[in-house]
Amino acid sequence: MSATASRLRRLLGLRPTVPDRYRALIAAHAPGRTFIDVGCMWSVHGAYAFHAVESGATAVTGVDLMSPSPEFVTRNLASNGAVRFVQGDINDASTTAVLGKADVVFCAGVLYHVPNPLLTLEQLRRICGETLILGSATIPEQRQPQTAVFLPYLDERRRRALTYRSADVKIGLDTEFARDQSYANWFWGLTASAVEAMLRAAGFEVRERYLHRRSVCLVCRAV
Ligand SMILES: C[S@@+](CC[C@H](N)C(=O)[O-])C[C@H]1O[C@@H](n2cnc3c(N)ncnc32)[C@H](O)[C@@H]1O
Repeated sequence: MSATASRLRRLLGLRPTVPDRYRALIAAHAPGRTFIDVGCMWSVHGAYAFHAVESGATAVTGVDLMSPSPEFVTRNLASNGAVRFVQGDINDASTTAVLGKADVVFCAGVLYHVPNPLLTLEQLRRICGETLILGSATIPEQRQPQTAVFLPYLDERRRRALTYRSADVKIGLDTEFARDQSYANWFWGLTASAVEAMLRAAGFEVRERYLHRRSVCLVCRAV
Protein backbone atom coordinates (compact mmCIF):
# COMPACT_ATOMS: atom_id res chain seq x y z
CA MET A 1 0.00 0.00 0.00
CA SER A 2 1.34 3.45 -0.91
CA ALA A 3 2.17 6.07 1.72
CA THR A 4 -0.73 8.19 0.39
CA ALA A 5 -3.21 5.31 0.77
CA SER A 6 -1.93 4.67 4.32
CA ARG A 7 -2.37 8.37 5.17
CA LEU A 8 -5.88 8.34 3.72
CA ARG A 9 -6.81 5.29 5.82
CA ARG A 10 -5.53 7.14 8.91
CA LEU A 11 -7.49 10.31 8.02
CA LEU A 12 -10.64 8.24 7.55
CA GLY A 13 -10.07 6.62 10.93
CA LEU A 14 -9.72 3.16 9.34
CA ARG A 15 -7.80 0.38 11.02
CA PRO A 16 -4.18 0.15 9.81
CA THR A 17 -3.42 -2.66 7.39
CA VAL A 18 -1.09 -5.36 8.70
CA PRO A 19 1.98 -3.96 6.84
CA ASP A 20 1.17 -0.46 8.14
CA ARG A 21 0.91 -1.88 11.65
CA TYR A 22 4.36 -3.46 11.28
CA ARG A 23 5.83 -0.24 9.89
CA ALA A 24 4.38 1.84 12.75
CA LEU A 25 5.71 -0.56 15.39
CA ILE A 26 9.15 -0.67 13.78
CA ALA A 27 9.22 3.14 13.65
CA ALA A 28 8.29 3.24 17.35
CA HIS A 29 10.81 0.66 18.57
CA ALA A 30 13.82 0.79 16.21
CA PRO A 31 15.26 4.30 16.75
CA GLY A 32 18.63 4.09 18.50
CA ARG A 33 18.38 0.29 18.74
CA THR A 34 19.99 -2.65 16.99
CA PHE A 35 17.49 -4.58 14.88
CA ILE A 36 17.13 -8.02 13.28
CA ASP A 37 14.41 -8.90 10.76
CA VAL A 38 13.87 -12.67 10.70
CA GLY A 39 12.33 -13.88 7.42
CA CYS A 40 13.04 -10.62 5.65
CA MET A 41 12.97 -11.56 1.98
CA TRP A 42 10.00 -13.23 0.27
CA SER A 43 7.85 -10.68 -1.56
CA VAL A 44 9.15 -7.77 0.56
CA HIS A 45 12.87 -7.76 -0.37
CA GLY A 46 14.02 -6.53 3.03
CA ALA A 47 11.49 -3.66 3.13
CA TYR A 48 10.98 -3.88 6.90
CA ALA A 49 14.74 -3.99 7.52
CA PHE A 50 15.19 -0.88 5.35
CA HIS A 51 12.33 0.76 7.23
CA ALA A 52 14.22 0.11 10.48
CA VAL A 53 17.32 1.77 8.96
CA GLU A 54 15.23 4.78 7.88
CA SER A 55 13.62 4.91 11.33
CA GLY A 56 17.04 5.33 12.97
CA ALA A 57 18.11 1.83 14.02
CA THR A 58 21.82 1.77 14.78
CA ALA A 59 22.61 -1.56 13.10
CA VAL A 60 20.24 -3.67 11.02
CA THR A 61 20.47 -7.32 10.01
CA GLY A 62 18.07 -9.30 7.84
CA VAL A 63 18.06 -13.09 7.86
CA ASP A 64 16.33 -15.52 5.54
CA LEU A 65 16.61 -18.99 4.06
CA MET A 66 16.34 -17.42 0.62
CA SER A 67 19.22 -15.78 -1.14
CA PRO A 68 18.98 -12.00 -1.41
CA SER A 69 16.66 -10.91 -4.22
CA PRO A 70 17.89 -8.52 -6.93
CA GLU A 71 15.52 -5.88 -5.50
CA PHE A 72 17.15 -6.27 -2.08
CA VAL A 73 20.66 -6.09 -3.51
CA THR A 74 19.89 -2.93 -5.51
CA ARG A 75 18.28 -1.17 -2.56
CA ASN A 76 21.07 -2.20 -0.21
CA LEU A 77 23.72 -0.89 -2.61
CA ALA A 78 21.83 2.41 -2.78
CA SER A 79 21.81 2.47 1.06
CA ASN A 80 25.59 1.85 1.26
CA GLY A 81 25.04 -1.66 2.58
CA ALA A 82 23.00 -0.48 5.55
CA VAL A 83 21.44 -3.93 5.99
CA ARG A 84 23.71 -6.85 6.84
CA PHE A 85 22.17 -9.92 5.23
CA VAL A 86 22.62 -13.40 6.71
CA GLN A 87 21.39 -16.37 4.71
CA GLY A 88 20.42 -19.16 7.07
CA ASP A 89 17.78 -21.08 8.96
CA ILE A 90 16.67 -19.35 12.15
CA ASN A 91 16.23 -22.80 13.70
CA ASP A 92 19.95 -23.57 13.34
CA ALA A 93 22.32 -22.74 16.17
CA SER A 94 24.93 -21.74 13.56
CA THR A 95 22.57 -19.00 12.29
CA THR A 96 21.86 -17.53 15.72
CA ALA A 97 25.60 -17.62 16.43
CA VAL A 98 26.26 -15.43 13.36
CA LEU A 99 23.32 -13.15 14.14
CA GLY A 100 24.28 -12.44 17.73
CA LYS A 101 21.79 -10.39 19.76
CA ALA A 102 19.79 -7.32 18.81
CA ASP A 103 17.73 -4.98 20.97
CA VAL A 104 14.72 -5.39 18.70
CA VAL A 105 13.77 -8.50 16.74
CA PHE A 106 11.02 -8.39 14.13
CA CYS A 107 9.64 -11.65 12.78
CA ALA A 108 6.52 -11.72 10.64
CA GLY A 109 5.03 -14.43 8.48
CA VAL A 110 7.32 -17.20 9.74
CA LEU A 111 5.82 -18.91 12.80
CA TYR A 112 3.10 -20.93 11.03
CA HIS A 113 5.64 -22.07 8.39
CA VAL A 114 7.88 -23.89 10.86
CA PRO A 115 7.27 -27.45 12.11
CA ASN A 116 8.39 -26.61 15.67
CA PRO A 117 7.16 -23.11 16.51
CA LEU A 118 8.27 -23.26 20.14
CA LEU A 119 11.81 -24.06 19.03
CA THR A 120 11.70 -21.09 16.64
CA LEU A 121 10.44 -18.79 19.40
CA GLU A 122 13.25 -20.01 21.66
CA GLN A 123 15.69 -19.14 18.89
CA LEU A 124 14.12 -15.67 18.66
CA ARG A 125 14.51 -15.37 22.43
CA ARG A 126 18.23 -16.17 22.07
CA ILE A 127 18.79 -13.29 19.65
CA CYS A 128 16.44 -10.82 21.38
CA GLY A 129 17.91 -8.37 23.88
CA GLU A 130 14.75 -6.37 24.63
CA THR A 131 11.78 -6.35 22.30
CA LEU A 132 10.23 -8.84 19.91
CA ILE A 133 7.64 -7.72 17.37
CA LEU A 134 6.00 -10.94 16.22
CA GLY A 135 3.44 -11.17 13.43
CA SER A 136 1.72 -14.41 12.51
CA ALA A 137 -1.20 -15.61 10.45
CA THR A 138 -3.93 -17.01 12.65
CA ILE A 139 -7.10 -19.07 12.50
CA PRO A 140 -10.22 -17.99 14.43
CA GLU A 141 -10.31 -18.88 18.11
CA GLN A 142 -11.83 -22.36 18.67
CA ARG A 143 -13.99 -23.63 21.53
CA GLN A 144 -10.82 -24.67 23.37
CA PRO A 145 -8.51 -21.68 23.96
CA GLN A 146 -4.88 -21.96 22.78
CA THR A 147 -5.78 -24.32 19.97
CA ALA A 148 -3.14 -25.02 17.34
CA VAL A 149 -4.04 -27.24 14.39
CA PHE A 150 -1.30 -29.32 12.79
CA LEU A 151 -2.07 -28.97 9.08
CA PRO A 152 -0.05 -31.71 7.35
CA TYR A 153 -2.37 -34.62 6.41
CA LEU A 154 -5.50 -32.85 7.64
CA ASP A 155 -8.34 -33.85 5.35
CA GLU A 156 -9.26 -31.43 2.60
CA ARG A 157 -12.69 -30.51 3.94
CA ARG A 158 -11.23 -29.45 7.30
CA ARG A 159 -8.35 -27.60 5.66
CA ARG A 160 -10.85 -25.73 3.50
CA ALA A 161 -12.74 -24.65 6.61
CA LEU A 162 -9.60 -22.91 7.87
CA THR A 163 -8.49 -21.15 4.71
CA TYR A 164 -9.46 -17.85 3.13
CA ARG A 165 -8.97 -16.11 -0.19
CA SER A 166 -5.53 -14.66 -0.79
CA ALA A 167 -3.45 -13.53 -3.75
CA ASP A 168 -0.97 -16.40 -3.33
CA VAL A 169 -1.67 -20.12 -2.93
CA LYS A 170 -0.98 -21.15 0.64
CA ILE A 171 0.95 -24.40 0.33
CA GLY A 172 -0.19 -26.94 2.91
CA LEU A 173 -3.41 -25.04 3.62
CA ASP A 174 -4.93 -24.50 0.16
CA THR A 175 -3.11 -27.60 -1.07
CA GLU A 176 -1.98 -30.87 0.42
CA PHE A 177 1.19 -30.85 2.51
CA ALA A 178 4.22 -30.86 0.21
CA ARG A 179 7.00 -32.68 2.08
CA ASP A 180 9.64 -31.58 -0.42
CA GLN A 181 8.76 -27.90 0.06
CA SER A 182 9.81 -27.75 3.71
CA TYR A 183 9.18 -24.29 5.21
CA ALA A 184 7.09 -23.14 2.26
CA ASN A 185 4.29 -25.21 3.81
CA TRP A 186 1.83 -23.84 6.30
CA PHE A 187 2.50 -26.31 9.14
CA TRP A 188 0.17 -24.79 11.70
CA GLY A 189 -3.17 -23.13 12.01
CA LEU A 190 -2.51 -21.08 15.13
CA THR A 191 -5.07 -19.20 17.18
CA ALA A 192 -3.88 -15.86 18.57
CA SER A 193 -4.21 -17.27 22.10
CA ALA A 194 -1.94 -20.21 21.18
CA VAL A 195 0.69 -17.82 19.77
CA GLU A 196 0.57 -15.77 22.94
CA ALA A 197 0.92 -18.83 25.21
CA MET A 198 3.86 -20.11 23.15
CA LEU A 199 5.57 -16.72 23.42
CA ARG A 200 5.22 -16.87 27.19
CA ALA A 201 6.59 -20.42 27.26
CA ALA A 202 9.61 -19.27 25.24
CA GLY A 203 10.48 -16.47 27.68
CA PHE A 204 8.59 -13.42 26.43
CA GLU A 205 6.10 -11.19 28.18
CA VAL A 206 3.39 -9.90 25.85
CA ARG A 207 3.03 -6.13 26.24
CA GLU A 208 0.83 -5.15 23.29
CA ARG A 209 -1.52 -7.20 21.13
CA TYR A 210 -3.09 -6.25 17.83
CA LEU A 211 -5.69 -8.62 16.45
CA HIS A 212 -6.38 -8.47 12.74
CA ARG A 213 -8.90 -10.62 10.87
CA ARG A 214 -6.42 -13.30 9.83
CA SER A 215 -3.33 -12.46 11.84
CA VAL A 216 -2.01 -11.21 15.11
CA CYS A 217 0.84 -8.86 15.94
CA LEU A 218 2.32 -8.99 19.43
CA VAL A 219 4.91 -6.72 20.97
CA CYS A 220 6.83 -8.62 23.60
CA ARG A 221 9.57 -8.03 26.11
CA ALA A 222 12.29 -10.61 26.66
CA VAL A 223 12.14 -11.71 30.31
C1 LIG B 1 5.63 -15.38 4.36
S1 LIG B 1 7.25 -14.73 4.16
C2 LIG B 1 7.14 -13.28 5.18
C3 LIG B 1 7.95 -12.12 4.64
C4 LIG B 1 7.87 -10.86 5.47
N1 LIG B 1 8.47 -11.04 6.78
C5 LIG B 1 6.45 -10.38 5.60
O1 LIG B 1 5.91 -10.39 6.73
O2 LIG B 1 5.84 -10.00 4.60
C6 LIG B 1 8.26 -15.81 5.16
C7 LIG B 1 9.73 -15.55 5.00
O3 LIG B 1 10.42 -16.26 6.02
C8 LIG B 1 11.45 -17.03 5.46
N2 LIG B 1 11.63 -18.20 6.32
C9 LIG B 1 10.76 -19.22 6.51
N3 LIG B 1 11.27 -20.11 7.36
C10 LIG B 1 12.49 -19.63 7.74
C11 LIG B 1 13.51 -20.12 8.59
N4 LIG B 1 13.37 -21.27 9.23
N5 LIG B 1 14.64 -19.39 8.74
C12 LIG B 1 14.79 -18.22 8.06
N6 LIG B 1 13.85 -17.71 7.23
C13 LIG B 1 12.71 -18.41 7.06
C14 LIG B 1 10.97 -17.36 4.05
O4 LIG B 1 12.03 -17.71 3.17
C15 LIG B 1 10.28 -16.06 3.66
O5 LIG B 1 11.17 -15.12 3.12
